Amino acid sequence: MACQYFAPCDHGADSFTIAIPKVTFGRGTLAEVGERAQSLKMSSVALFTDNFLKEGPYIETVTNSLKKAGIDYQVFSDILIEPDDVCVDDAAKFLTSHDFDGVISVGGGSVIDVAKAAMVCAKFPAPVRDYFAPPVGEGKPIPGPLLPHIACPTTAGTGSECTSISVIRIRELNTKFVFASPYMLPDQAVIDPTCCESLTPKAVASTGFDLLSHALECYTARAYTQWDKVKNPNARPLTQGANPWSDLAATQALKIAGEYLIRGVTDASDHEARDQLMWGSALAGMAFGNSGTHLPHALSYGVTHLMHDITTEGYDVKSPFVPHGISVVVTAPATFRYTAEATPERHLEAATFLQADQRGASTADAGEVVANRIIELMRGTNIPNGLSGVGFTENDVTRLAESSIRQGRAIANAPRESNLVDLENIYRDAISYW
Ligand SMILES: [Fe+2]
Repeated sequence: MACQYFAPCDHGADSFTIAIPKVTFGRGTLAEVGERAQSLKMSSVALFTDNFLKEGPYIETVTNSLKKAGIDYQVFSDILIEPDDVCVDDAAKFLTSHDFDGVISVGGGSVIDVAKAAMVCAKFPAPVRDYFAPPVGEGKPIPGPLLPHIACPTTAGTGSECTSISVIRIRELNTKFVFASPYMLPDQAVIDPTCCESLTPKAVASTGFDLLSHALECYTARAYTQWDKVKNPNARPLTQGANPWSDLAATQALKIAGEYLIRGVTDASDHEARDQLMWGSALAGMAFGNSGTHLPHALSYGVTHLMHDITTEGYDVKSPFVPHGISVVVTAPATFRYTAEATPERHLEAATFLQADQRGASTADAGEVVANRIIELMRGTNIPNGLSGVGFTENDVTRLAESSIRQGRAIANAPRESNLVDLENIYRDAISYW
């Protein structure tokens, strides 16, 4: 199947590039951070975290480890969920106001993404918006290496510790955008699954669907051989489409999501499930960080841009707020119904990894099989019932589509082309599922 999917085509790419950090995974590995920082020649570290984690045990473990290794550190913790460009500016000022020779980030995707973006803006001063692709920004290239960075995730979802991508909200536009550069890839990822033990079921569910969708999107993404050859090999984007590497990591991440997502959400004492989800999140990061996501992530940006007055239960933030994983999964069943028509075998393979019931299904049923399995997992983890579950109605679909159509690269990475009307139809199909 794989070799058929990557069959060469005229003018299509015939090679792909993979980049991942040095990865350490295991219970208790946060205590290794000091020695790992030493190995990267760090002596004065900027430690990024958030105000919730700042006084907690993970930061205590990391700072004790740094002290033991004789490494100085200063903490920056003014990072909220869904961080914006103003936060990045503040973080960049913090970086430039001290003579740091390394960065350590301890937190969820928001913390790690701010660390990456701030390192760019501190080393090559410019507003972060300039680095986003036009028309939002200027597409300013990042010219060279940044400070060494050790990323330590405390949630199982974004996979940001393993990607060269940062997602930042532009406050003026109230919309999130993605920027990426090989220089933004952390040097090391230290993944300690004990960090997942204290997460609420809501947080595990939301981040778990982010991991699931990363894996499902990169497995079903347009094949890298369908993208044009690049003239400059150093300019090959990491959003290069599905490839044999992303297949390998995404397949295992899908199997983990299929087997452990409901268990990890419903039973905080199920260490096996939560450890597996942490590993699945890293794998999915290593996969989509080298292939790109597609429509569910593109459509999630419209959802977070236009969300109404609903704050998802269990989050201590100002209203309105829809967690990233939920903003992605509310449209995912409808999206895969749409994309399966282009590559039904691929979608059925992915459904198999997710443990979908495929009895009697043919390729014509591929979209429905994938959608039904996602819906089953959503219902098993108390995820809102589609867009209506987070406050949208049919009256919103045009504005949602107009917002999301700006995510050009992700939309082009889908296996099936889509225009504004197609996006409206997907949003309409995503209003409710049960
Ligand atoms: Fe995501």
